[in-house]
Amino acid sequence: MNPKFKPLFQSYILNNGIEIKNRLVVAPMTHFASHADGTLSEQEQGFLSNRASDIGMFITAATLVAENGKAFYGQPCAFSEIHLDSLTRLAKTLQSQGSKAILQIHHGGDKSIPELLNGHDKVAPSDNPELGARALTEAEIVDIIQGFGLATDLAIRAGFDGVEIHGANTYLIQQFYSAQTNHRNDAWGGSLEKRMAFPLAVVDAVVEARAKHQRPDFIIGYRFSPEEPGEGGLTMQETFALIDALVDKPLQYLHISLWDFYKKARRGADTSLARLQLVHERIGGKLPLIGVGNLFSAEDILAAYQTGWAEFIALGKTVMINPTIGTLMANGREDEIVSTLDSTKADHYGIPDFLWSRCVEGGEWLPPIEGKEWSPRDV
Ligand SMILES: Cc1cc2nc3c(=O)[nH]c(=O)nc-3n(C[C@H](O)[C@H](O)[C@H](O)COP(=O)(O)O)c2cc1C
Repeated sequence: MNPKFKPLFQSYILNNGIEIKNRLVVAPMTHFASHADGTLSEQEQGFLSNRASDIGMFITAATLVAENGKAFYGQPCAFSEIHLDSLTRLAKTLQSQGSKAILQIHHGGDKSIPELLNGHDKVAPSDNPELGARALTEAEIVDIIQGFGLATDLAIRAGFDGVEIHGANTYLIQQFYSAQTNHRNDAWGGSLEKRMAFPLAVVDAVVEARAKHQRPDFIIGYRFSPEEPGEGGLTMQETFALIDALVDKPLQYLHISLWDFYKKARRGADTSLARLQLVHERIGGKLPLIGVGNLFSAEDILAAYQTGWAEFIALGKTVMINPTIGTLMANGREDEIVSTLDSTKADHYGIPDFLWSRCVEGGEWLPPIEGKEWSPRDV
């Protein structure tokens, strides 16, 4: 290993005593490749079979906790016993490469896709006629919270090292926290505290599932998006309030969702500073933070880590186009890391068909393509 990259390969001991062998994390990536019933497919397994070497934690694609929340074709599922066997194989696939396996658990809310909901209504915190979603009843809210607990129970029994609660990217958990999408006037909305009740109840249900299994070693992380565009969208102030509540929970890490590691705050904080720096300061060392966003080279990754704003660095697109990036860095082969995808080399990447077709079309949330203009996503 080139000695300058050594800091990235230091281990980290989480507050429950679990050692993470280095600071590299594979960011959760939806691959659109599970079978229609949410079980593991060959293409999905292929995509995951060589991307977790020399990686500290591998976070899976957003995995569905309740039938009425499916937001992707080919989304993996964890809401029934029928998913246990494929979850077990998934955990083993990642762990056999030496990484901790973390299952990201998710509900799409108003971003769910009607034809994938098996006859269920599309649901959200509040009615949203434009998106065809209706407000959840209180009983349904409790059911979904329990779904997050059940998914955790399945993850533990499947042998995962942990779960990550997907509270980011404007899916259901974030929809509850945002005043833009939560117009309720009951226990689940109305004030900032009440909008936060659903995210915190999900955390409690996940923690309870872990306690039931007496598995304090099981890792629980929480992912959030720090800001939303739009007048009523989430601000840094609201994110600080959420962080203050999350650091009081028995979690092991927080994970910010960003498309640019260095993106500055939009409002509700010093706009000359990066969101990530502000969030890290607010956490104040109470939990480790995973940072992410458009880090393409080994130098980019090291420079990001050296800001001191994140204890772990997650990589998404870079892992799509450099399946063995952890090993390349660990073995002094960082010069082999590429920052663009060669659309003529489908076999080389092992990216599942549907995701591959999207990659070849191109998009700001997908890897840059060799020889084509690319502009990064700006949210
Ligand atoms: C193909 C693809 C699928 C993604 N799916 C998820 C997902 O399931 N859950 C999630 O929290 N973020 C998801 N993301 C966002 C990534 O986790 C990450 O935050 C984002 O890609 C920025 O990091 P990067 O610049 O290293 O790619 C996805 C990103 C990509 C490119």
